[in-house]
Amino acid sequence: MKARGQQFNDRIAVVTGAGTGLGAAIARALVREGCQVVVVGRRRAKLEETAKSTIDPSRVHVFAQDLTADGAVDALLSYCKDRFGKLDILVNNMAVGHGGDFAEASVDEIREAVNTNLLAPMLLAHAALPHLELLVNVNSLSGLLPLPGQAVYAATKFGMRGFTEALQAELAKSRVRILSIYPGAIDSEMNSKELRARLAAKNLDLPPVTSSDGAASQVIRAIRDVDCKAAVVGSRPERAIGWLARRRSPIINAFLAAMRAPVQILMNESIRMVRERRAESAPPKQLEHAPDVAATKAS
Ligand SMILES: NC(=O)c1ccc[n+]([C@@H]2O[C@H](COP(=O)([O-])OP(=O)(O)OC[C@H]3O[C@@H](n4cnc5c(N)ncnc54)[C@H](OP(=O)(O)O)[C@@H]3O)[C@@H](O)[C@H]2O)c1
Repeated sequence: MKARGQQFNDRIAVVTGAGTGLGAAIARALVREGCQVVVVGRRRAKLEETAKSTIDPSRVHVFAQDLTADGAVDALLSYCKDRFGKLDILVNNMAVGHGGDFAEASVDEIREAVNTNLLAPMLLAHAALPHLELLVNVNSLSGLLPLPGQAVYAATKFGMRGFTEALQAELAKSRVRILSIYPGAIDSEMNSKELRARLAAKNLDLPPVTSSDGAASQVIRAIRDVDCKAAVVGSRPERAIGWLARRRSPIINAFLAAMRAPVQILMNESIRMVRERRAESAPPKQLEHAPDVAATKAS
């Protein structure tokens, strides 16, 4: 039987992709609620920024790691076991937002999206489950609504949804609670001001994004409600669209038809921007088996 009311105090939480965007905001919110939070991502400097932005950086532990690298999941689990003796909450948040026409995607981009958005989160959940009270899988409205220009991203998010819902059914009577989060458009690196400016230059105005801290508050609300299995977070219209999509309402077909063209432009511009950034600077790919928490502790 699951305990009534999610407990946060002194819980050890791991948040992946916590150096930026929604993951950083969820980490801040969990620290506020009383958790100790292990923040994971490839860029150490971003994780340290997240630690500093919390109300108590001494409760944040930086684990700089590419989670798709061989041995990375085991290294993270060993770190939690050695340092805390436990791991209570896992927030599978990291993702890459590969969009654009499928025919234009490189094999490396397809592999990276599947590895980052689906395979690594599944392997992490698999390794962590025996220890967990709560698993939060961060999905997307794209995991509910298949749109052009999103074949790769939507495939990973539909996969994540299938994984999460099947696991919820499988573990319905166990002590582990599993929660799916479907964000709408959130202010983050994936959905950056730069991307919006590029789209504005093409006369495509996007609706306003929800702040990552605002979205994280909605995530915390969903976590507190122990009967909640899935929550759409974002603006009111996005929550309504998500509600209809989850219930397979026929109204959603009209929405999908209307969104086809703008979403395709959006996704093609988004991947163009990602490719340009990549050409400028490649992220580090090596395994860091000895995470350094001292820097965070000292701050
Ligand atoms: N933003 C939106 O509008 C939106 C909409 C719907 C759903 N979502 C979902 O919300 C979640 C958070 O996205 P976001 O918008 O906050 O995006 P974001 O700012 O781009 O954050 C993604 C994070 O994942 C980390 N990451 C990527 N690859 C990694 C790897 N191999 N190993 C470890 N960390 C890795 C990145 O940090 P490093 O580069 O330092 O590793 C980054 O901090 C994602 O699941 C996304 O699909 C976002």
